Amino acid sequence: MQVYKAKDYRDMSRKAANLISAQVILKPDCVLGLATGSTPIGTYQQMIEWYQKGDIDFSRVKTVNLDEYKGISNENPQSYHYFMKTQFFQHINIREDQSYLPEGMAEEEKAECERYDNVISRLGGIDLQLLGLGHNGHIGFNEPGDAFQLGTHCVALSDSTIKANSRLFAKGEKVPEQAYTVGMKTIMQAGKILCIVSGSDKAEIVKKAFFGPVTPAVPASILQLHPDFILIGDEEALSMC
Ligand code: GLP
Repeated sequence: MQVYKAKDYRDMSRKAANLISAQVILKPDCVLGLATGSTPIGTYQQMIEWYQKGDIDFSRVKTVNLDEYKGISNENPQSYHYFMKTQFFQHINIREDQSYLPEGMAEEEKAECERYDNVISRLGGIDLQLLGLGHNGHIGFNEPGDAFQLGTHCVALSDSTIKANSRLFAKGEKVPEQAYTVGMKTIMQAGKILCIVSGSDKAEIVKKAFFGPVTPAVPASILQLHPDFILIGDEEALSMC
């Protein structure tokens, strides 16, 4: 595990964008595993800026996202489809058929999980996986207690995750309680993993996940065992390490 300390959110985002851009430059047809949440927004903005300057080309890149809420349509502004489109894809040269996410409205749960696992294997796996970190140590939507050996599956979100997500939903709007997520097995099979963390509210879980014992009770802790795992945190997030 390599740890890079960034000054602040902006610095963390720039460092992460640098690593992802390097991957795209070295392998223009690479497969990027992408994440949602507030943490990667700055990273996407930085890459958009470099794309607009002509420094990075996504025309041959493929992307697979970690997760999607179950029961939400792709057009719903709370969906991860919508997030990725508005925060990243519509600003760069990537076609719709180069980007994959689980389908929240899929009729059959098991078939959707199988379909998504097949998409990832057909692409030849993930070259670089970008991750944020949930306050309870979840990555994607792999909640504490989820087995490490799973592929894509449908999960019941924990109360703390539902509460954290509710900040993004309007009052009275129903916050999804289930989601599709790529499993820890698939994440661990990525060639390189980059986790980004920012803010003092993440300091405790960063310490637990990356400097404590490896346990399914803290899903992110298994990343310590990946041969090419990079953690980029700002000073606040790394303040307890
Ligand atoms: C959600 C996403 C995760 C993300 C987490 C943290 O649960 N499914 O992929 O890492 O939120 O989000 P934030 O970056 O907003 O703290």
